[in-house]
Amino acid sequence: EQQPKLIVISNRVAAVDSKQPKTGGLAAALEPIVARLGAVWLGSSGEVSDDDAATVQLVPCGEGHVSRLDLPSAHYPGFYRGFANSTLWPAFHSLPDRISGSPQHYDSYREINDFMARAAFNLRDRDAFWVHDYHFLPLADRLHRVGIDRPIGFFLHTPWPAPDTIERVPNHRELMKSMLEYDLLGFQTNRDVNNFLAGLRSHLGLESKDGIVISERGRTRCQKFPIGIDPNQFAEYAAESLANQEEYISSVQKKLGGAKLAIGVDRLDYSKGIENRIKAFNQVFAAEPRSISLLQIAIPSRSEIEEYREYKRNVDSLVSQVNAEHGTDEWSPILYENDAFTQAQLAGLYRAARVCVVTPLQDGMNLVAKEYVAAQDPNDPGVLVLSKFAGAAEDFNDDEALLVDPNRPDEITAAISRAANMPCEERIQRWRPMKDKLEAYTVHDWAADFVRELDKSRITAPADH
Ligand code: G6P
Repeated sequence: EQQPKLIVISNRVAAVDSKQPKTGGLAAALEPIVARLGAVWLGSSGEVSDDDAATVQLVPCGEGHVSRLDLPSAHYPGFYRGFANSTLWPAFHSLPDRISGSPQHYDSYREINDFMARAAFNLRDRDAFWVHDYHFLPLADRLHRVGIDRPIGFFLHTPWPAPDTIERVPNHRELMKSMLEYDLLGFQTNRDVNNFLAGLRSHLGLESKDGIVISERGRTRCQKFPIGIDPNQFAEYAAESLANQEEYISSVQKKLGGAKLAIGVDRLDYSKGIENRIKAFNQVFAAEPRSISLLQIAIPSRSEIEEYREYKRNVDSLVSQVNAEHGTDEWSPILYENDAFTQAQLAGLYRAARVCVVTPLQDGMNLVAKEYVAAQDPNDPGVLVLSKFAGAAEDFNDDEALLVDPNRPDEITAAISRAANMPCEERIQRWRPMKDKLEAYTVHDWAADFVRELDKSRITAPADH
């Protein structure tokens, strides 16, 4: 079967040096896809420029190419810091009290979408366009306006909130209407698809049937495509790092003083629920001192936004308090790392950890949960403590992970103790089906599925309906 020649568009793209640590789910997930499908990947370089010519320069990335664009300096802050990360991000994570912004931010957001459409126009001979994440909700509309008539799909890596939360986003009607310019809209979970369709009904008065919405433009299919990982890659990394007796793992083990290891890996983002997790560990340390330590890898993120800097300060000081209260010369309760690790290093640490704690207040999928499972030793696997509000909780059920309410530190405490003391037999019983699911639907299956579905809209022209 002939693969369509694809353009992938996202704000964040792979780092210039692909061995660099990855700090966000999206770029890490897309890199192997672009590399394998021979796609062209357009995104931001993270730098700005006064030149808004939208020239595309391609650099190889596996079989494919990446083009890192300097976005227009007049609009990048309003787009990235403003509308994308201060309005849409908190809204999409159902944290409406954190929403802020101004009409200028929305203008900048539209300008950057226009700029990206002009850049993509240079590549209009490709077969299909696949747009990613909340930075580019209206891009299909802009692509159509510059004259592109190929199938255009969109995948949202974050959750989509309930109708009364999306209503808090300025211009939400216009945005949702522009999303119907896509032929295919992909979401992480059923919850997200249902919220989106309910929003169309409440705010635009549009009905759907079997996930299909007919608008003036034509037909848009809304479907769940739960993103995965490459589980074999993680299993290999984990086995290798164990065989090599990696130094950073030994150095962690030295600080444990015989305690078991729990691990948390997050960008320092207020949606990740790191504070409640640390409060939960504080209770565990009080009840069972020296039985378990937490390695919390907390990677600074979006530090140009004050709320993110404040969140980091709060987490930093909470960690210091807990360590001051419980730490001894032989035992560090919380090992706190602010640097990103490579996937190979993470895999080794995951394998060394008896428990992984993933407690976001809301999360699109959360790939840490999946990576942890993939890296386990089949004969002595660890236990996943997982927020019921992470997309991954639609893939992993209560017989597999220990599902918790991330708003309730007491529930997290109980789950950590239970995980730390769980007999090997039960750990294997819980882990096996999760590992099987990861193998049955990898990130490559995810991409192939999406592209196949998108390719169908090339054949089913809007006029047929
Ligand atoms: C989440 C978003 C991605 C984003 C990543 C890192 O995973 O869904 O779109 O790339 O966070 O955030 P950043 O703002 O650094 O790109």
